[in-house]
Amino acid sequence: MPTKNAGRGASGGDAEAESKAEIALEDLPGIGATTAEKLREAGYTDLMELAVASPGDVAEAAEIGTAIAQKIIGEARRKADVGQFESGTTLLERRKRLGRITTGAKALDELLGGGVETQAITEFSGEFGTGKTQLAHQIAVNVQLPVDQGGLSGEVVYIDTESTFRPERIVDMAKGSGVDPTDALARIHVARAYNSNHQMLLVQKAQELAREKPIRLLVVDSLTAHFRSEYVGRAELAPRQQLLNRHLHELLRFSDTYNASIVVTNQVSARPDILFGDPTRPIGGNIVAHAATYRVYLRKSKPPRRIARLIDSPNLPEGEAVFSLTTEGIRD
Ligand code: GTP
Ligand code: MG
Repeated sequence: MPTKNAGRGASGGDAEAESKAEIALEDLPGIGATTAEKLREAGYTDLMELAVASPGDVAEAAEIGTAIAQKIIGEARRKADVGQFESGTTLLERRKRLGRITTGAKALDELLGGGVETQAITEFSGEFGTGKTQLAHQIAVNVQLPVDQGGLSGEVVYIDTESTFRPERIVDMAKGSGVDPTDALARIHVARAYNSNHQMLLVQKAQELAREKPIRLLVVDSLTAHFRSEYVGRAELAPRQQLLNRHLHELLRFSDTYNASIVVTNQVSARPDILFGDPTRPIGGNIVAHAATYRVYLRKSKPPRRIARLIDSPNLPEGEAVFSLTTEGIRD
């Protein structure tokens, strides 16, 4: 099943990805502790990030000349083995390892081709109160179920940017899904992100955690809220999109390395140019559209019902599913 992201990433699996990550930035000639620190602060955390960066960006981030930046990038490319190709066979093998997490509602699972997929980003967008956070909570519980019950026996990293994570809801939903509530809470690793930089840093921290625990789901609720409030106005649109792009890229890499699902939520903004139909659209525009493999747009229906619509999916038919928000969780 081809997806938008099927061809990305040249690392040959978990073990290899990990051994690459062990080469520190400081190991490159020309990078001292200070430069390494500046680079890390700007989001260049390992060789691959540097290898695919532009000299201008690196020069600015590390406050060095472009020529030196060019040299550093060259070294990173040599060490990081960029340009290594993967055979179709390897890609097929990797895709065979794809896992799926049930949302708790059959119709919604079917809309997604069988549940929320690993090695992919799934975006839930919609207006306030459409159930984005409830879905994130539910999937964080369900990923803990064994495979034959729609889970991945996995743990969760939950990046909460709006302080809307509620352990009480996890307890309700765990009871509803047949997961021990105490275990359910213990397996969800929640971090509050205070701004967009912190949010991005937390993805790096998640990688550290994923080396110790079987993290199979990473939630970012909400993906765009901080970016939207920090970068306002036309002039800031380009830097905002650039950072958001890097963030999504890091999330994708996480999903590939750990065969994990990424679930992000996204608010919608008004669209003054639309006269007919839904006058809103998800924030982040084509950057999010490009990175997210599955985009689900939610809207309200007769309570407690919600309607989910799959938008621009490369490999699944567009369609809609109805589900309900109940005290026990997401249901048909
Ligand atoms: P924003 O983050 O504001 O954009 O909204 P959201 O899309 O994240 O909405 P959220 O997931 O928080 O959905 C809120 C809705 O979930 C409420 O309006 C209720 O309908 C439902 N809900 C939340 N908690 C409960 C609960 O304990 N029981 C029941 N039955 N419904 C709940
Ligand atoms: Mg919410």
